Amino acid sequence: MWQIPFNVPFLTGSEQKYVNEVFDNMEFSGNGPFTNKAQKILEEYLDAPKVLLTHSCTAALEMAAMLAEFGPGDEILMPSFTFVTTASSILRTGAEIVFCEIDPESMQLDLNDVKSKISNKTKGIVVVDYAGFCVDFQILREICDEYNLFCIEDAAQGLGSSWNGALLGTQTKLGAISFHQTKNLHSGLGGCLVINDRKMVEKAEIIWERGTNRSAFFKGLVDKYSWQEVGSSFYPSELQAAFLCAQLEAIDDNLLARKRIWKAYLEALKPLEGKGLFRILKPTQGCNHNAHLIALLFPSPEATDIARIHLNNNGVQAVIHYVPLHASPMGRRLGYLPTDLPETLHHSKTLLRLPLHNQVTQKDVDYIATLLDNL
Ligand SMILES: Cc1ncc(COP(=O)(O)O)c(C=O)c1O
Repeated sequence: MWQIPFNVPFLTGSEQKYVNEVFDNMEFSGNGPFTNKAQKILEEYLDAPKVLLTHSCTAALEMAAMLAEFGPGDEILMPSFTFVTTASSILRTGAEIVFCEIDPESMQLDLNDVKSKISNKTKGIVVVDYAGFCVDFQILREICDEYNLFCIEDAAQGLGSSWNGALLGTQTKLGAISFHQTKNLHSGLGGCLVINDRKMVEKAEIIWERGTNRSAFFKGLVDKYSWQEVGSSFYPSELQAAFLCAQLEAIDDNLLARKRIWKAYLEALKPLEGKGLFRILKPTQGCNHNAHLIALLFPSPEATDIARIHLNNNGVQAVIHYVPLHASPMGRRLGYLPTDLPETLHHSKTLLRLPLHNQVTQKDVDYIATLLDNL
């Protein structure tokens, strides 16, 4: 048992009541009243034309790749410093991945490297809102417009963050958000696809509904439903949707609480940053973040290991993050060498994440800062 665990799943206290209502409704399988309710809450919150709940962010990314019509012969640019399914969702379409560097300061996708890797085969970009922070979307849009590229926003960690006033998940035509229990809000497993282009809604609903026009049937637009496209079973059960409704109702309180903890970390760690012990990962200009993650960047991999082991030995579950995809066994099979993306490799080895969840107290933050000061 950790004295201060890295993550404790958020609970509002209303989840069980809502799940019990699913039993009252006798409607378990999905695309029912709670799914509709959660989607409406998200559409209003994000100011998006359509949100479809999915059983994971991975499912939302797979839907997005299908909707973007990526396929064999296409090259899709993305960071290597991301979660596995950012990439596998693309590979499943038959398209190729071109891994790009992260910007060393922000750890977001390096848009200069993106530009340098555009070829006549490039069809799209997957941008990742790492840590709930983001790139300069104005520059990204200019690149996409200039080269006619389709951009998917992997906003797995981004719910509640915004860039220049518009929420993450809504920055490109399609955004994918995660409700995995490690995220600020969750349903155990879960996710959603944010469809910001009205023209894509009908096809998205078909892909979501196992490739059928069942959604149109429910709306009374057709008298029977049938197979229309290659789709899959992408939505969650009503049990997950009910759980999620309870969480979504607490979004503002959750955000406030997390921001308070993030600020407490910032205050406690600033003096140590001043001494040159590490750098605190901060959002880029224009990004108002959701306090999803607090990460430190140490001067060397060795210094990172020493800090992690010292914190772990003293009951604090500090953890590293992604093994870069290009340096993984699968990345090697795709033809990459670890040294191909030196910034990504170095930063993945010098980043350490600290516990951040709604039960972290000021006392915990002060304790962690003292441990780091005594390194
Ligand atoms: C950047 C990123 N993309 C995608 C995912 C996949 O999310 P899920 O577990 O909901 O499928 C994650 C999960 O942590 C992630 O961090």
